[in-house]
Amino acid sequence: MEYNHFYQQSILQRGKFWGRKAAKIAWYKAPKTVLTLDKQGYYKWYPDGELNTCYLAVDKHVKDGKGGEVAMIYDSPVSNTKRKYTYDEVKLRVSKISGALRDKGVEKGDTVIIYMPMVPDAAFSMLACARLGAVHSVVFGGFAPHELAIRIDDAKPKVIISASCGIEFDKIIPYKPLLENAIQEAEHQPSACLILQREMHICSLQEGFDFDFEESVNAAEPADCVKVNATDPLYILYTSGTTGKPKGIVRDNGGHAVAMQFSMDYVYNAKKGDVFWAASDVGWVVGHSYIVYAPLIAGCTTVFFEGKPVRTPDPGTFWRMIEEYKVNIFFTAPTAFRAIRKEDPESEYLKKYDLSSLRTIFVAGERCDPSTLKWLQEITQKPIIDHWWQTETGWAIVANMMGVEQFPVKEGSATKPVCGYEVQILDETGEVLGPNQEGFVCIKEPLPPGCLPTLWNDDERFQESYMEKFPGYYLTGDGGYIDPDGYVFIMGRIDDVINVAGHRLSTGEMEEIVSSHTAVAECAVIGIEDELTGQKPLGLVVLKDTSTISGEEVQQDLVALVRAQVGAVAAFRTVVIVKRLPKTRSGKILRKTMRMIADDKVFTLPSTIDDPAILEELKVILQNNYIGLVSKKQF
Ligand code: COA
Ligand code: AMP
Repeated sequence: MEYNHFYQQSILQRGKFWGRKAAKIAWYKAPKTVLTLDKQGYYKWYPDGELNTCYLAVDKHVKDGKGGEVAMIYDSPVSNTKRKYTYDEVKLRVSKISGALRDKGVEKGDTVIIYMPMVPDAAFSMLACARLGAVHSVVFGGFAPHELAIRIDDAKPKVIISASCGIEFDKIIPYKPLLENAIQEAEHQPSACLILQREMHICSLQEGFDFDFEESVNAAEPADCVKVNATDPLYILYTSGTTGKPKGIVRDNGGHAVAMQFSMDYVYNAKKGDVFWAASDVGWVVGHSYIVYAPLIAGCTTVFFEGKPVRTPDPGTFWRMIEEYKVNIFFTAPTAFRAIRKEDPESEYLKKYDLSSLRTIFVAGERCDPSTLKWLQEITQKPIIDHWWQTETGWAIVANMMGVEQFPVKEGSATKPVCGYEVQILDETGEVLGPNQEGFVCIKEPLPPGCLPTLWNDDERFQESYMEKFPGYYLTGDGGYIDPDGYVFIMGRIDDVINVAGHRLSTGEMEEIVSSHTAVAECAVIGIEDELTGQKPLGLVVLKDTSTISGEEVQQDLVALVRAQVGAVAAFRTVVIVKRLPKTRSGKILRKTMRMIADDKVFTLPSTIDDPAILEELKVILQNNYIGLVSKKQF
């Protein structure tokens, strides 16, 4: 199929195009209207459609006679477990979990938080919520209690589902104390917790409040799918914004289901029965879309992996899995491949395995650096497809649409806009820029199906964060350009969000935590380049004149503080004590300039700088000690 024509139709004949794509979904009531703009100015996809997302992902396949086919393969090198679940088995398990939730009072429209490691019941619990029309909010297991507490207060869950522990490499991480601390910190109190006891660590349960997950599920009657409106929320997924309060991205049911099916057909070129593996975590959007919903809606077998690319047990794990399960399509973050390359640069492990089942490798979550791209192409001899998207959109904005037309790959580009996304580059004044001119990457309204309709209970912040800067456009938060051939190049965030090992984190939030220390007068946290994880946070701190504790002590305190508040996943390990921070005359800290210095990049001195000497001081400190700090030390 020809991309240009297909893409143009998705924009110019929006109603017809997305109406036809919606017909691939089994609705209870098919929508007559494809897209409307309500009085408040919000676009709504398929407003009169009725469906159930769990039905599409599970029951539909059973009804079609595919109940005996494998829906999910669970492989957990960290717990030494391997298991396959057929669609029949998934249906039974999910409907029983729904029953257990219903027994705890969960109804359509209620919220449920899922704070779990990568165990199949995490995915089944998501589907169980969808089955009841309840709204799930999965919180990544690597987040600390404070982060969980913020999400509890915002989502106000009736029930929290959790587990006794997670496993990080060979380390058991007890979840219950984290959950208890979070509930203690939160104002909102759930009415019950369902706790999955894992045999490697059994936790104690508080009578009348904590309930054994397995016992509750066993005792429950299976629940049926509840009809919901297309515009009803399916889930909330919190993601880092520029402040300490994460943004609750809302996903609707109807647009999401259409987008998931569409992306499987045209972005991934996945067919029914294919084995699809997204090596990520259900706590991230990749996990929501491509471990759980899309592969199941499309009738594929999804691979559910509890492990890491390395040291579980070795850098051959990915290749072993691809051979063992005959994976057809594989998706992960570039950082995972960089970790493998570091431990196995000659790809000796790969040579032991047969990758003939594998058609394509997709990467996302961060920019795919040319060196990783070339290495991967060389060692696998497979198409390596970078695609750019974000939690907000839930699926790819820019990609090489493998089910449409395969374009030659250009290093550093995720290729062309995906159907439905009108990507444009704007300058500060909102003018559309021409080829090769770098600016704000924006998407002209309306966004295609599946993208966020708003933020959870916060229309105002939605407008402020995404829609107000350039009326008529959605601001992605990334900078970049489009070349004369229409290839989109994403150059990185233009706000205070950084990307560490494929994890999206807020430096603004880290600054709030760092500045809460009694010895800190002011601070800046910037993301500096790192060869393995893409970026790493670096804290620059000015101490109060009255501070009596040593700089070293403050450094240790701050690292511990961020770890305790955000979680280990923040990877905040470096703090530099400086005398002053460079600022503009109006007092704005020059974070971008500091980042350029730390990354050893050419920069122009901002004309508004207050005192250039401060920048010079900082340059010397960074150059002598910290430029390329992590990469220099580790590689
Ligand atoms: N639960 C608890 N702790 C977690 C966690 C989880 N789910 N995930 C990460 N952490 C902890 C790690 O154990 C580590 O703790 P430490 O400081 O005590 O060592 C810390 O958070 C930092 O983790 P990470 O940045 O992931 O480093 P790592 O050395 O553990 O692993 C990689 C490095 C590259 C193997 C790993 O980051 C990875 O697999 N990345 C792929 C990312 C990905 O899938 N992203 C999703 C988008 S597609
Ligand atoms: P998240 O919401 O966690 O998925 O993070 C989204 C952000 O990650 C985007 O706004 C980009 O900054 C970055 N990102 C994701 N995928 C890519 C990619 N393929 N190329 C460049 N940046 C990416």
